[in-house]
Amino acid sequence: MMPLAPSEAIEHGDDARRDGSMLVLGIETSCDETAAAIVARSSDGHGRILSNVVRSQWEKHRAFGGVVPEIAARAHVECLDELIAEAIAAAGTTLDDIDAIAATAGPGLIGGLIVGLITGKMLALAHAKPFLAVNHLEAHALTVGLTDGLLPPYLLLLVSGGHTQLIAVHAVGQYRRLGSTIDDALGEAFDKTAKLLGLQMPGGPSVEEAAQWGDSKRFVLPRPMLGRAEPHFSFAGLKTAVRHAALAIAPLTDRDIADLCASFQTAAAEAVVDRTRQAMKMLNSDEAFGPGRPTRHLVVAGGVAANTALRAALTDLASAYGYTFHAPPISLCGDNAAMIAWAGAERFARGITDNLDAPVRPRWPLDREAAPALGAGAKGAKA
Ligand code: KG4
Ligand code: ZN
Repeated sequence: MMPLAPSEAIEHGDDARRDGSMLVLGIETSCDETAAAIVARSSDGHGRILSNVVRSQWEKHRAFGGVVPEIAARAHVECLDELIAEAIAAAGTTLDDIDAIAATAGPGLIGGLIVGLITGKMLALAHAKPFLAVNHLEAHALTVGLTDGLLPPYLLLLVSGGHTQLIAVHAVGQYRRLGSTIDDALGEAFDKTAKLLGLQMPGGPSVEEAAQWGDSKRFVLPRPMLGRAEPHFSFAGLKTAVRHAALAIAPLTDRDIADLCASFQTAAAEAVVDRTRQAMKMLNSDEAFGPGRPTRHLVVAGGVAANTALRAALTDLASAYGYTFHAPPISLCGDNAAMIAWAGAERFARGITDNLDAPVRPRWPLDREAAPALGAGAKGAKA
C-alpha cells in the first residue's frame, strides 16, 4: 500500500466540514491502480485533499510484461472496500459526512471499471448520496484546479499510457481536441521501449531513470510528425527506430541501454514540444487563448507528465511563447482517486449528478465531436 500524500495539501475532515466545504469520495479502478480518496471543495472553488490512498497492482502484472485485464479486475475486487474504508478513516470523516460519491466510469479496462462503478453506485444507494460517473481523462484534465487553483481556459497536453492528446479546455465540461496520436500513446511508447530493453515495468520511470546517465546524442532517432500543421502525434516509428538501433549493436551493455533511453526520451520530448508549439499557433486565432489575453496557460497531465525531462522541455516552450506552465505534483500525475473526487466535485458544484444506471464506458472521448486524426489506425482513432 502506498498512501500518496502531498502532505501540505492534506487536512482533517472536521476542519473542512466546519468551513462548509463539500466532501466527495472518489474511486478509481480503470487500469492497474486501485484508489480511493476524499477531497474537500469550498464554496469559492478551492480544493483540498483530505486523504488519498493508491494501491498499485504492478507486482501482479510484472511477470506478464503488461497489464492483464482479468488479473486487474480481480485485484480491484480484493482490495477496494478496504481502501475506501482507509481513505474515509484517514480523512477523519464518516460516510454520512460525505456529500457525493464519484467513481470512474471510463475510459479504461471494462472489468476494473465495473468493479469501481458498481461499488460507487452501491455506496451512493445505501447511504442516499448523489452519484457522479467520472471520465478519467476529465479527471486528469482538471487536476490543476485542485493543485494550483487553475481555472480554464488552458491548453492541455494529456499524456498517459492509453492517450496522447492536445486539448483546448474552454470550461469544465467543454473540451476541444486539437490533436491526438495516430498510433501509440506516449506512455505506451515508453513502456514498449522499456520492455524491448529488458527494463522493469511500468516502463516510463525505468526509461527515465536509465536515461539520466545516458548520452542522448549517441543514436539518431526520428522526431515523428515534426513541422506538420495539425498537432497530431505518432510514436510507432520512433519505437521501431529504437528497436533497429538496439538490434544493430546487440548484445546491449548497461551503457548502450542508458544511451538508447536518453536518445529515445529526447526524441519523444522534442516531438511533443513541436506538436504543442503547433497547437499554440493554432490557438493564436482563438479569442479565448490568443495573444491578446493577459495570461495563457499550458498544462500537462497524465502519467507521463511525471517525466522530468518532458516537464523541463515544456517549461521552456511555455516561457518562449508567453504561456505559464502548470503540472500536477509528480504524486498526482499517475492514476489516483483524488483527481476523480475533484472532477466529481467540480461537476457536482455545477449542479450535475448522474443516475444510478450510468453505464460503464470503456471508450469515452473527452471531445465527442472530434474526428479521428488523419492517417490514424484503429488505435489512433480511439485516442
Ligand atoms: O495516467 P496513467 O497513470 O495511467 C493511464 O491512464 O494510462 O499513465 C501511465 C503511463 C505509463 O505508460 C507509464 O509508463 C507512464 O505513464 N509514466 C511515465 C513516467 N511515469 C509514468 N512515462 C515517462 N516518464 C515517467 N517518469
Ligand atoms: Zn490515467
